[in-house]
Amino acid sequence: MFERHGVPVLQGLVADTPEEAEAAAAKIGGVVVVKAQVKTGGRGKAGGVKVAKSPEEAKEAAEKILGLDIKGHVVKRVMIAQGASIDKEFYFSVLLDRSNRTFLSLCSVEGGMEIEQLAEERPEALAKIAVDAVKGIDKAKALEIAKAGGFGDDLADKVADVFVTLYKVFVEEDATLVEVNPLVLTTDGQILALDGKVSLDENAEFRHNDRDDLQRDDLDPLEAKAKAMDLNYVKLDGQVGIIGNGAGLVMSTLDVVAYAGEKHGGVRPANFLDIGGGASAEVMAAGLDVILGDPQVKSVFVNVFGGITACDAVANGIVGALNTLGATATKPLVVRLDGNNVNEGRRILAEYAHPLVTVVETMDEAADKAAELANK
Ligand SMILES: Nc1ncnc2c1ncn2[C@@H]1O[C@H](COP(=O)(O)OP(=O)(O)O)[C@@H](O)[C@H]1O
Ligand SMILES: [Mg+2]
Repeated sequence: MFERHGVPVLQGLVADTPEEAEAAAAKIGGVVVVKAQVKTGGRGKAGGVKVAKSPEEAKEAAEKILGLDIKGHVVKRVMIAQGASIDKEFYFSVLLDRSNRTFLSLCSVEGGMEIEQLAEERPEALAKIAVDAVKGIDKAKALEIAKAGGFGDDLADKVADVFVTLYKVFVEEDATLVEVNPLVLTTDGQILALDGKVSLDENAEFRHNDRDDLQRDDLDPLEAKAKAMDLNYVKLDGQVGIIGNGAGLVMSTLDVVAYAGEKHGGVRPANFLDIGGGASAEVMAAGLDVILGDPQVKSVFVNVFGGITACDAVANGIVGALNTLGATATKPLVVRLDGNNVNEGRRILAEYAHPLVTVVETMDEAADKAAELANK
């Protein structure tokens, strides 16, 4: 991605096996660096970045790095990057600053180490410069950032050009974070981005059809399944499965379930799942399917407020889902319906009289019931 936008980087090849790493090192030639490809920082400290002076050494390094667990991420792939002769390491990032409703650039001549540590130990060494979303980072702004980060005049001019390009990456890729740590000055005077971290805004994904090569294989399997079904699902570590319509309602449901769980052996929500406004039978079935597939789930709380989609449609959705799932639905369901056409919704469920379904009137009572069932 950096390469495409003209950010100065070194050549790098990815490898899945030590043999591929050896071949890649031979192809690149000279000193290489073997780097763990995991979506977390601090790889260097964890032994996930190793210098290799020959293809054989690259193979040995890859053998050590592949399979390593770095902060819960198991390394399945390494990058073989050309080795840089580093004089100085710097830090630069631009990100979305939600609390100030603007973009923010962080910059320091003291890069390389974990930035959280620098921010804590020597906050004065880390410049924080607000970036106007309309004006962006032009050369003048980039110079302001560089100076604030502690660069002298000569270097500031060099790095500023790279900052402008990195801002271009940030905007054109619809990123919420572009971070380079370290940005380096090499012994022969070049500025290079050696390590990048980019967070992309998924809401803009439809504008980017060129991302098939991005690895998404570290998704939790249930999250991957939910994503394939277009569901807004986040796996948590409790026992009460949760389905609701609307992110706000689901968030409140997590709270009431966590609260109710205190009286029932400390059970907690097992997930966040928002099935959105049109809670159709298909979406309800897909949601239940994902949640029932979580072995940690002991009970499910369906919390729906009928608005545009009326409660009778939701009730039919639940009936349809249970019919679809048949014998695979094995865990107790507590359903709370309210809002548009609630009486008809409750009537449909009462008539269906599924042995696993309990209909409860209020949200608090339903949370209590679901927590109780999860604790049985
Ligand atoms: N291509 C490279 N050539 C020389 N040194 C490198 C190279 N890539 C990384 N390093 C060194 O390794 C350190 C850690 O690597 P980095 O890619 O920043 O991973 P992480 O931040 O996850 O530890 C860098 O700060 C740099 O000193
Ligand atoms: Mg780094």
